[in-house]
Amino acid sequence: MSVQSAARRLTAPDIRARKGGEPIVSLTAYHAHTARLVDPHVDFMLVGDSLGMVMHGMETTVPVTVDMMILQGQAVMRGSARALVVVDLPFGSYEGSPQQAFATAARVLKETGAGAVKLEGGRRMAETVRFLADRGVPVMGHVGLTPQAINTLGSFKALGRDEASAALILDDARSIAEAGAFSIVLEAISEPLARQITEEVAPPTIGIGGSPACDGQILVLEDMLGLSDRVPRFVKKFADIGPAIGAAVEAYASEVRARSFPGPEHVYAPKKG
Ligand code: KIV
Repeated sequence: MSVQSAARRLTAPDIRARKGGEPIVSLTAYHAHTARLVDPHVDFMLVGDSLGMVMHGMETTVPVTVDMMILQGQAVMRGSARALVVVDLPFGSYEGSPQQAFATAARVLKETGAGAVKLEGGRRMAETVRFLADRGVPVMGHVGLTPQAINTLGSFKALGRDEASAALILDDARSIAEAGAFSIVLEAISEPLARQITEEVAPPTIGIGGSPACDGQILVLEDMLGLSDRVPRFVKKFADIGPAIGAAVEAYASEVRARSFPGPEHVYAPKKG
């Protein structure tokens, strides 16, 4: 007997087929409740390792573990029904060898039910991307600013703004495109470079600090909602819900102190008889 859900979830091949078409919309999600809110409006949700910084207050994404990614990936899958869910492979869980990457990716896909993984890196990861793609693991690439490399980069600044560095990033994108990545995130690179990569590579590009010409865009949900203290230039705040949360908590605190909350409608009367 086959089991079918009401609406089919988007897949990596669906995203791959969107090259040059209607822009691909995506956001990060780490929780079931935010996934539920985001799901109707996006094509894919990324359970990004940015969760280490956004949810846990870490300085970088380096300490994030596979177990953390699996826990939040499971939550996002439970909270969504339609969008493709992509889970980041965290630092140290895939770079050692293609075999290590396959073992981690297989565990992530089996334990979360997500449809794809993302990993950072260009030329140096091409062999791994091919190894995974050949074995049934859809891989989203990520080039340009790769936050897991913070200890070698030194800071989170935009890249590809001079000819030499632009040529390296173009080569990175070409390498993982040829290796079989089904789409590629372009983070914090010069706008003409993001445009050029989008024109040259076969899979769709997803910009975050890229170009409006990219095949799609992604932002960290908490950044675009105005919940993050400091955000990079590429973030547009589509809402400012931080103050609204502060005001609600302040109102709650004053009603608790005044004993006006809970009101009669929030308490239970004894059963009659
Ligand atoms: O971890 C993350 O949220 C990401 C996006 C910024 C693309 O990789």
